[in-house]
Amino acid sequence: MDPAAEDPLLARLHPALRLGRPADGPAVARLVAELGAAEWASQPPRLQAGICRFLAWPGPAFTLLIEDEGFVLAFVMVQRMCAPAEDGVQLCIDDLYVSPAARGRGLARALVAGVKAVGARLDCCYIYLHVRADNHVAQQLYASEDFEPAPDLLYDWCNFS
Ligand SMILES: CC(C)(COP(=O)(O)OP(=O)(O)OC[C@H]1O[C@@H](n2cnc3c(N)ncnc32)[C@H](O)[C@@H]1OP(=O)(O)O)[C@@H](O)C(=O)NCCC(=O)NCCS
Repeated sequence: MDPAAEDPLLARLHPALRLGRPADGPAVARLVAELGAAEWASQPPRLQAGICRFLAWPGPAFTLLIEDEGFVLAFVMVQRMCAPAEDGVQLCIDDLYVSPAARGRGLARALVAGVKAVGARLDCCYIYLHVRADNHVAQQLYASEDFEPAPDLLYDWCNFS
């Protein structure tokens, strides 16, 4: 089956852009581990199980990915939530990653376009994300896609042991 054929909206943005499925779990977990290697002191012990569960999540989260000849090259994980005050939907880009060898070919731009396109279909009023202050490449990507730095402070509470 041609995965892109599943969703013509995504296929119009990039021929290999499609929704992630539970079977993509191990491949996506490998890329998440690559992404995390630069940011985590150690890999979370339940990483692969957690990614597989996310891809099978019956709730509103979704993953878009781009693959080439069976290899997943890039993914974006997205959380969908209500936007109560606007009576709409808000999307949070949780993680976005392109394998180093596949960078500079517009894959991240296609993923962001895919999130926007799915968002438009969901009547989404805003999309947000956080970027590390030293991640100038990602900042450049989002700025070029009309995202603006938010004036809000980001707080977090962690219970990683
Ligand atoms: C950031 C990242 C997703 C970009 O992926 P990519 O597929 O190479 O990006 P694209 O080819 O789609 O480029 C889109 C835009 O991003 C910016 N960009 C990409 N690579 C860049 C670089 N090396 N330097 C500066 N800007 C860059 C440019 O604005 C580019 O547009 P242009 O080609 O018209 O100039 C990729 O480098 C990556 O996975 N990095 C590690 C994980 C990460 O930082 N994720 C984001 C966390 S929020």
